[in-house]
Amino acid sequence: MGSLPNGVHHLALATRDVKAQLDFFTEVVGMELVALYWMHGVENTVHAFVKMGETTTIAFVQAPEMKDIEPHLGVSHAGFIAGNVAPGVMQHLALNVDSEADLMAMRDRIRAHGHWVMGPADHGFCKSIYLAAPEGIMLEFSTWTGLDTDEWIDPEVVAHCGMTAADIARYRDPPGFASKAGQVPQPDPRARPNIEFVFPPEWRERGEKLYRMSDEELCAVFTNTTPPVPKRRKAVGG
Ligand SMILES: [Fe+2]
Repeated sequence: MGSLPNGVHHLALATRDVKAQLDFFTEVVGMELVALYWMHGVENTVHAFVKMGETTTIAFVQAPEMKDIEPHLGVSHAGFIAGNVAPGVMQHLALNVDSEADLMAMRDRIRAHGHWVMGPADHGFCKSIYLAAPEGIMLEFSTWTGLDTDEWIDPEVVAHCGMTAADIARYRDPPGFASKAGQVPQPDPRARPNIEFVFPPEWRERGEKLYRMSDEELCAVFTNTTPPVPKRRKAVGG
């Protein structure tokens, strides 16, 4: 089971004001800035990371064109915590805290910075508080209070979503997969045309090339391991 995903590495959110986002997520929420640099392989685009816990980060991506892209309520942005958005778009973001005391501490921290925040609401298996972050990010903080899966898969909802008991049994016990150490060849990118990248016109030529490249060629395009502020290393024996 060691090869399965075990957390969010980073969630990348688009921004036209990375400073406003860093002000909020560091000062109000208390997350630490850990990286801020030009995004590799993408012109004039800033990438920033704030950290929570040991392995999880929220990232921001700020490209100059984003200044001119207007958010649309009900399409790109939910507007409130239960609002609708287009399929595939993040509806809201919930960050974990360890206990109800920590949830109250976060509520105090947010309120102490002058932000309105509602809750906690008790959902039976978690308690949550809710607020709006800059640029209309619907933000929740939540703490687990005990989830019994046998109690929280509703047969009425299962039927409503066109699922069967057999589907649920499969979902609850996904098949394992033994590692092939990276030796499984790339399938034809056109084999599943319903799941593929869609490039905008200015990326189309480059995008079509990406689909024809080997793993090694692709890797070379996006690899940049040199930090923007390299540590000075002492010359050995110098
Ligand atoms: Fe939620």
